[in-house]
Amino acid sequence: MSEIPLNDIVVTDILERLRAETREAHEAIERDLAWESRVTTRDGYRALLARFWGLHVVLEPALADVLDDPTFFDPRRRLGHLAADLRLLGLDDAAIEALPRASMILPSNRDQAFGALYVLEGSTLGGQVIAKQIGRQLGLSPDHGCRYYAAHGRETGPMWKRFRQRLTEEARAGDPDVIVASATRTFDVMRLWLCAAPLPLSPVPFPDGEGRGPVAKGSQRG
Ligand code: HEM
Repeated sequence: MSEIPLNDIVVTDILERLRAETREAHEAIERDLAWESRVTTRDGYRALLARFWGLHVVLEPALADVLDDPTFFDPRRRLGHLAADLRLLGLDDAAIEALPRASMILPSNRDQAFGALYVLEGSTLGGQVIAKQIGRQLGLSPDHGCRYYAAHGRETGPMWKRFRQRLTEEARAGDPDVIVASATRTFDVMRLWLCAAPLPLSPVPFPDGEGRGPVAKGSQRG
């Protein structure tokens, strides 16, 4: 097709490749997650966060082990954010620890880890849209029940930029095919896990009575 060695295309275009080859998987999760209907009530939102917790609790330690770079990875951890939100929504620490955990094949090398992290870090971008909607709908804020979706807050853009730079370097040293395959698999695992039947969590009232029910129906995108 072209005179350019395939490897050069793959290396320079890892981000283009990831975006193109996971497009379908992204569309599928956007569609099946049904986040808008799940965050119309506090209980639905809490069940969704519980599901995310069950994923992050298994994935984050595996990523930390494989990457072995706390300066890079620790600011990207969001398990603590999920726990903070779930506590605010009425779960105590014992109830959080008892939540179901995802069963999945964990990343065991750097390429697999960067593929999985691409998905987690990329989700902070769409998360900005969702956080705004949750704020409008449930009256929550980053400091008050919406820490997970707020993600890196104002740092989300710069963090994503730094992640992309690092990913490009990693792809140069590693195997882009493995990175892409891992990203695709992570999307699929997430979709299946997050879109499983809702958890049978009994409704718990807000400690301070705030954030009850729909407040306003805003626009869906930004
Ligand atoms: C758990 C579910 C989701 C995951 C794992 C996920 C993952 C990703 C990833 C990996 C990217 C980066 C794409 C790239 O530039 O290479 C991304 C971007 C984005 N996602 Fe999602 N996403 C999820 C759900 C959603 C939902 C529900 C929405 C709709 C509100 C959404 C909207 C976006 C937007 C607006 C971008 C930025 C696109 C751009 O700037 O080019 N995502 N997401």
